[in-house]
Amino acid sequence: MKFIKFKNEQESSKYVADLIVKKINHNPKLILGLATGSTPVKLYSLLVENYKTSTHPKTDWSHVKTFNLDEYIGVNYHDAVSYHSFMAKNLFNHVNVNHHNTFFPDPKIDYDELIKENGGIDLQILGIGANGHIGFNEVGSPQHSLTWLVDLVPATIEANAKKYFDGNIDLVPKKALSMGLGSIINAKEIILLAFGASKTEAIKKLKTATKFDINFPASFLVNHKNVTIIVDEGVDVDL
Ligand code: PGA
Repeated sequence: MKFIKFKNEQESSKYVADLIVKKINHNPKLILGLATGSTPVKLYSLLVENYKTSTHPKTDWSHVKTFNLDEYIGVNYHDAVSYHSFMAKNLFNHVNVNHHNTFFPDPKIDYDELIKENGGIDLQILGIGANGHIGFNEVGSPQHSLTWLVDLVPATIEANAKKYFDGNIDLVPKKALSMGLGSIINAKEIILLAFGASKTEAIKKLKTATKFDINFPASFLVNHKNVTIIVDEGVDVDL
């Protein structure tokens, strides 16, 4: 696992945005694994900025395919709180990605099979929960799980209530479909982003992890050969 620290979220996100643009220019059929949450918002805005301003070459998303990590169950895709809407608002509506090439876990499809049929994820972007969760793979998630139906844990429901529902827990969806740790580990390359002091403990644990620990889901990354952890100076860890 490689760790890189940048001054702030802007510089960290710029590094990853530049890398993604370079990969798309090199391979127009790039397969990206994408995450939601506050962490990748800056990255997506920089990708949008690049799309609007790039010229020679103009970044072309028309053949790129994207697979998102998770989506709520019981929420209409057009609802503002859905991850479909999050991605549309933050990225998809502002670049020339073909909407038929953007995928989310769906109870009607075998998501892992679909990813495999498309050749597998070239680059997976991840955030991390303060408790080490990845997507909706909470503490106790098995290492080899594929895309699965998960019950959100109270801490995640509370965090989501604060972030998206004015603190009203009753409005937060309680179930989601999430790529499992066993799905994510198949990506050819993984970049995990973590910004701010609230991620310090999780990154400290990740730095010292040597094997998978079911009580710290992010530790599954020790079993991947091409992982980069990118943090900002808010994360108080010596790297
Ligand atoms: P955040 O969430 O990006 O909003 O901090 C990350 C996560 O909980 O996976």
